[in-house]
This record gives sequence, C-alpha cells and structure tokens, in this order.
Amino acid sequence: AAHCSMTYPPTSRNTFALTTPLYYVNALPHMGSAYTTIAADAIARFQRLRGYSVRSITGTDEHGQKIERAAASAGRSPQAHCDEVAAEFQKLWQLLDIRYDRFSRTTGPRHEAIVRDFFQRVWDKGDIYLGQQQGWYCVACEEFKEERDLLEGNHCPLHPTQEVEWRDESNYFFRLSKYQTALETLYEKQPDFISPESRRNEMVSFIKQGLQDFSISRVHVDWGFPVPADEKHTLYVWFDALLGYITALLEDEDAPTLENALAHWWPIDLHLIGKDILRFHAIYWPAMLISAELPLPHRIFGHGFLTKDGQKMSKTLGNGLDPIELVNAYGADAVRYYFLKEVEFGKDGDFNDTRFVNIVNADLANDLGNLLNRTLPMARKYCGGQVPDVSAQLLASDCLLKQIGLPLGEQVSQFYNDLAFSHACEAILSLVRSCNKFLDEQAPWSLYKKGEQKAVEQVLYAVLESVRLAAYLLSPIVPTVSTAIYRQLGFQDDLDSVSETSGYFASYDVHSTWGILPAHQELGEPKPVFLRLE
Ligand code: MSP
Repeated sequence: AAHCSMTYPPTSRNTFALTTPLYYVNALPHMGSAYTTIAADAIARFQRLRGYSVRSITGTDEHGQKIERAAASAGRSPQAHCDEVAAEFQKLWQLLDIRYDRFSRTTGPRHEAIVRDFFQRVWDKGDIYLGQQQGWYCVACEEFKEERDLLEGNHCPLHPTQEVEWRDESNYFFRLSKYQTALETLYEKQPDFISPESRRNEMVSFIKQGLQDFSISRVHVDWGFPVPADEKHTLYVWFDALLGYITALLEDEDAPTLENALAHWWPIDLHLIGKDILRFHAIYWPAMLISAELPLPHRIFGHGFLTKDGQKMSKTLGNGLDPIELVNAYGADAVRYYFLKEVEFGKDGDFNDTRFVNIVNADLANDLGNLLNRTLPMARKYCGGQVPDVSAQLLASDCLLKQIGLPLGEQVSQFYNDLAFSHACEAILSLVRSCNKFLDEQAPWSLYKKGEQKAVEQVLYAVLESVRLAAYLLSPIVPTVSTAIYRQLGFQDDLDSVSETSGYFASYDVHSTWGILPAHQELGEPKPVFLRLE
C-alpha cells in the first residue's frame, strides 16, 4: 500500500522478553496476581503487533516453607499441592485470554540444573559464606524483618494476622554488601532501570542505609533444592525463584545448562512486578547477576496494589475479589479493560462494582460499540455495504478525524512503551468520542438526502477508518472486542492471535497508521461487539 509508514526508534534486536512474577502456590490465584499478568499480556501483545519476536514468561514459585505449610494444611504432599494450584493458575490465564510463551515452574525438571550452575558461579566468585542468621522471619513474605518494622505483638506489617518467627540458625549468606557501589552506579547510569520514579527513589534511599548480606539457605525447610556445597541445607526460596526467569528461556531441545538458557533471550527486557517485591528484583537480583558476571535485565516496573471499595483485599475481611467469578460474570475484555484503564499503572487502584460496570459500559458498549453499530448500517444504505472509495491522502487535511488519527498510532505506541495503559486508553477513546460527535455534526443522513454522495462517503470513510484504528490500538487490552470489530470491517484476520509467524500484521506501522482501510472492502454483518453489563 502506498501510504506513508511511521518509523520507530531502531533497536539492535527485534526481540522482547518479559516476565510476570512467578506466583506462590500457597493459595489460589487472586485479583492481584491476575493484575500483573493482564498488564504483561497487554505488553506482550503490543510487542507482537509491532512485529517483535516475543517471549512472554509467567509461572509459579513452588518451594519454601510457605508452600510446605500450605500443602501440609491441605493434607497433600508438597508436589501434589503444587501441581494442583499451578493448574489453577493456567486455567485462569486461559479464561483471561492471556497468551504466554512459557509457564515456568520452579519444581520443573530442568530448573535445578540451572540453579546449580548459577550457584556455582557465585560460589566460585567467593560471594557465598557460612554465617549465623538471627532475626524475625515472616513466612508469608518469606523474608526476615527488622524489629523496628514490626507491628505490636510481633506481627508483620504486610501480614498483620501472622506472627513473625524467631530464627537463630547457621545459614549460607550471599555477600550483598559487596555490591552496594555497583548498584548505586547502576541506578545512576540507567535511571529507567527501575520505574516508576517513585519506586526508584524508594530503592535509592533503601540502599543508602547500607546493604546487609542476606541468607540464601535454610536448615529446617525440606521443600527446596539442596545447597550444592552442603546438602544439609536447602536453598532459600527467593534464590531459586528468581532463577526461574532464566530457566524459562531454555528451548525445548536444549540441554539444561545456564549457558544454553542465556543464549537467546537474555537479558530480559522487562520484569513486571508489584511494589511489595521490588527489593528482591531491584537489589538482590541484579547483585546476584553481577556476582555471576551476567548482563542485567533492562527494566523493572513495580506496579501498585489493588484495593476493593477502598480497603485492602483480604481473606479475613472477606472482601477478596475472585478473578474467576469476575470473568465468568463479565468476560475477559471487561476485566482487562477496567484494571488497565481505570488504574494508573504504577499507582494503587481500587475496584468497585458500580464503577466497573459504568466505565466498561460507557467506553466499550456505548462509545466504541455503538459507534460501529450506527455506522455500518449507514454504509449499507448509502454505500452498498462496502468501504467507500475514498483516498485517505486526498481527504481534506482539516478533516478532524484524520487530524486526530494520523499521530495517534505513534502516541499510543509511546504510551505502551511507557506502560501507561490508562493514557493509551484515554487517547484512543478520545478519537472514538470525536467520531460520535463528528457523525452528529456531519449528519450523513441529511447529506444523503441532499444528494451529496461524495460528502457522505468521506464522512463514513473517516469514521470507519477511525473505528478500525481504535480497535487495532486497543487490541492488546481488549483482544476479543477488537477482533469482532475487525471482522465487521471486513478483515479476515484474527487480532487475537497475531503472532510473530502470522506475517500479515508483522509491521505495526502499517495498521497503526490512519488511512489504510481498503476501498471497496466488503463490510460484515453489524452485530453488537460488546454487550452492556448489568
Ligand atoms: N513468589 C513471589 C514472586 C517470585 S518472582 C521470582 C511472590 N508471589 S505472590 O504470588 O505473592 O505475588 C505475586 C504478585 O502479585 C506480586 O507482584 C504482587 O505484587 C502481586 N499482588 C499480590 N497482591 C496484590 C494486590 N492486592 N494488588 C496488586 N498486586 C498484588 O511474591
């Protein structure tokens, strides 16, 4: 097609690897875990649309005392428990239309070899030593706590119903303190290593207080890998879990060695996490990698926490939000849209039933869905059910929709790059709202009566093309709605399954450009693309 195409900043490689956290399998997935995964899926879809090869990684974190205890209280062996809960995560991802490339389980058959290789490198570096660990341990966090941070009665601030436990045992330690300057330099030289900025500042001031070595082994936990150098110990769950990101990079045919795992996709482009596990990813993880002399991931983004009706979601308060119930009631697109549009990514956000229904109805059912449903019948009546024969280039430059539409692809692309999902939605929705206004003002039905066929065609072309662009740009967030719109506009392709092999959409610049809707394309049956929620 002879339209101008947009260029994106050249990158040295056309691949993008990203991760969600590997979720603990102590309990069934909740809305918090779904939130990170939805965001990761939107980014993965965006990268695939623009023609990148993507490896999108999620999975489960299955070792440690927390899981050991959860299994015991469920009356199951740890492995049986993990298998069961891991399967529930996979089910939920399917319900939510999440397309991941790897599901990394830390009890998976190839993980231990990677952990051993990695441990060996750090050991050889002299960064692991035997010491005495004393302190308050929160099993729910799988983390030692400073006494000054505890609530009254020795409760963990993040798990106020749970008491921390006193530990005094011989453990292996990782020499984190040795890497203080290296981390400070990293943050300085690579200011976007941690975002948003507030999280970066948090880490900078944490490091300023001075870093202490942390223990990476346990003597009273059986459910974990034996420490290679001393089998009386098992490895601390976080040491093993972070390496799950690397194991996920192995190809099926690869022998499980660290070298093989790092050969193709490392370093990871983006680790998406919640703010509660920032320290592990922004401090421990890069220090471990520097010690092992490996390149560092490019970027870590710590999102906020979700609340329900303004309160922390918790089982004790009985106000948890079950993602399965939510999807079954409202569908995946509604859930995906609400959390990405309504919560500014990076900040805390709230779920409220009424707001959920109102926002999703207003944006998806009314503004976007109705727009298509009122335009298609006009195209049938006035243009024979085909895309009118209008050249986008020749449309007057004062056409409002063209003005908004032309730069939109690039703007939205930038928002996705910045993980600014709500801004992306806003920008796209403002084109959609302008379309509705434009139709009212231009009133193609009166133009038609006056016999102004050319004008009718120009108006309808501009609106249909804007709906197409909106659907395309929203597709990382609402893939099903977007695909339904594409179909009704006469495209055969499935926006929901765009992959690096599909070729057709392999250049984001083509479909993200306003003005590509082919003249005379046969339009489909008008059907509601999104049913109003009650
Ligand atoms: N197993 C570790 C991660 C290891 S990564 C190598 C873990 N798992 S978790 O299941 O407890 O948490 C996973 C993610 O869910 C975290 O990113 C956390 O921030 C997120 N959330 C848990 N509760 C949440 C909310 N209420 N709101 C938003 N996200 C929340 O930590």
